[in-house]
Amino acid sequence: MEQARVPYQKILFVCINRRQPQELCCSQRESESIAEALKARVKALGLSRHVRVSKSGCQDLCAKGPNVMVFPDYLWYHAVSLEDVERIIQEVTQGLVPSATS
Ligand code: FES
Repeated sequence: MEQARVPYQKILFVCINRRQPQELCCSQRESESIAEALKARVKALGLSRHVRVSKSGCQDLCAKGPNVMVFPDYLWYHAVSLEDVERIIQEVTQGLVPSATS
């Protein structure tokens, strides 16, 4: 086993869990597209070395999804849509400085 420091200042966990067709889940409500849109914005802003967007399993709030958890801010966005991506990025990346090579 090895241990290393996490290089990211922010980590966004986007639930992409898929449940039975008759059960509510984040993946039924565009969460994969939301994760990809968040990643694309982080990259476009040159913040890939500072902000990680990770797909996650169920966050146990399926009815409120799609859900995005943000650490170390302890923020939890619910009912996220593609239209919310820019606002989340603006709130989460406030104050972060882009890298020269990102
Ligand atoms: S399926 Fe996303 S919180 Fe459960």
